[in-house]
Amino acid sequence: MDGPVGIRKISSHCSISEMDDFDLSRLLDKPRLNIERQRSFDERSLSELSIGFARAGLDNYDNFSPGGRSGFNTPASSARNSFEPHPMVADAWESLRKSLVYFKGQPVGTIAAVDHQAEEVLNYDQVFVRDFVPSALAFLMNGEPEIVKNFLLKTLHLQGWEKRVDRFKLGEGVMPASFKVLHDAVRKTDTIIADFGESAIGRVAPVDSGFWWIILLRAYTKSTGDLTLSESENCQKGMKLILTLCLSEGFDTFPTLLCADGCSMIDRRMGIYGYPIEIQALFFMALRCALSMLKQDTAEGKECVERVVKRLHALSFHMRSYFWLDFQQLNDIYRYKTEEYSHTAVNKFNVIPDSIPDWVFDFMPTRGGYFIGNVSPARMDFRWFALGNCVAILSSLATPEQSMAIMDLIEARWDELVGEMPLKISYPAIESHEWRIVTGCDPKNTRWSYHNGGSWPVLLWLVTAACIKTGRPQIARRAIELAESRLLKDGWPEYYDGKLGRYIGKQARKYQTWSIAGYLVAKMMLEDPSHLGMISLEEDKQMKPVIKRSSSWTC
Ligand code: GLC
Repeated sequence: MDGPVGIRKISSHCSISEMDDFDLSRLLDKPRLNIERQRSFDERSLSELSIGFARAGLDNYDNFSPGGRSGFNTPASSARNSFEPHPMVADAWESLRKSLVYFKGQPVGTIAAVDHQAEEVLNYDQVFVRDFVPSALAFLMNGEPEIVKNFLLKTLHLQGWEKRVDRFKLGEGVMPASFKVLHDAVRKTDTIIADFGESAIGRVAPVDSGFWWIILLRAYTKSTGDLTLSESENCQKGMKLILTLCLSEGFDTFPTLLCADGCSMIDRRMGIYGYPIEIQALFFMALRCALSMLKQDTAEGKECVERVVKRLHALSFHMRSYFWLDFQQLNDIYRYKTEEYSHTAVNKFNVIPDSIPDWVFDFMPTRGGYFIGNVSPARMDFRWFALGNCVAILSSLATPEQSMAIMDLIEARWDELVGEMPLKISYPAIESHEWRIVTGCDPKNTRWSYHNGGSWPVLLWLVTAACIKTGRPQIARRAIELAESRLLKDGWPEYYDGKLGRYIGKQARKYQTWSIAGYLVAKMMLEDPSHLGMISLEEDKQMKPVIKRSSSWTC
């Protein structure tokens, strides 16, 4: 421990907030001392936004009409004072507290679902790393950081375990997907069991867990000002172990991370193997968060930072160039020549235009765009994935223009992407023969259900954060109102089914903790947009897009 908890330590190198507006290319050849601090974009825009919100009660922003940008006021929503606590909030807090999991008397996480009516418990009685993120943010925003610190330390400890699937040993840095505390009432002992993929359905390691861990460590540090945790030897080591897993050199020709199906929130076969957008966006965000926390007082630390910086450059270029799709880009791909060889190739991955699915031509608005699901040789997965696109906005993987275009798309395709319950995890659903081939006939992932075009209330916090960052809180407000009309009444389901997300999911758990926490986080952020800083990074001025071919984000 380097200093007392809760006191911002003045250290020889930049503090976490200073590092956020770091100039990456300068970092490659210069030490990071004595950097003059400019007020960051996030802080600037947020404080201004906050004043605007407080003054106008958000009503000035209430010019959103789904399906278009024309704008009109919705009397019902304008009339209600946004700062009056909604009756659902108290219920949500009560339910969130019921989900707390204790280890030796200390809260260390929240259980995935407290559904007493569920026939099968499966692993929903575990603390999932990814599920705990919205809970953690809710506690941080409410001024209760202890549970978050306990969780970070507990999972860090679990990272140190030897992990095996049958006779095969997993990488040292792998973080658990979930853990569970077993209480022995007689012996008065608590024991932890953890799953790193060896028990998970499909036996897939959670690639996202380590990234969420780093992102949460930054959120904790940013929210409390307590640098002692992130600067501790254990946390520095934990971060480096996670980074070692994804920065190692091998056969890769792309800076993106090659993954097995089911390695993230979508934790079963859904055709996301390869380079899924969710993982790439989280990877980018985790790299940026790590950069703001890694110490450089040793040669090893310096080397690690250098590798992170180089990867960030390559990754942002790759993602912004090849994953980005808008009207112009779609038209270009449609006219692609194939079988090109050498450096002059335009169609670098040899995508055959005939493989573009019909739906995408109708789906693509004239204004708007998004990061597609996957890009690899001769394969573009044109599906929309909400989490990856929201994280791309929050991490500034998306340029400001791309971020605006993503929000334009959400507005223009409101029925498809939000419908009656925010937010579609993926769009569109895979059906019939394709469903058979891609999911392996998964009965849980039938069309418009669960991961296959289902609607997940947890995603509300992510879209709200993205809305605030792009200066469009009115969109978040609309989405929250939709959720408020159903969530409590329906018992906080895990997901909804159907094209419009109208039906409670076929096998959805009730009292799903991240549905509850996601709602609370969305509400708190809208009330006090300065919370956004915990989970958002401003654009790095030096990582400007190189490719300028898509009208929607260059003009
Ligand atoms: C489901 C979700 C996964 C989540 C888990 C626990 O498996 O797909 O993302 O972590 O449930 O809620």
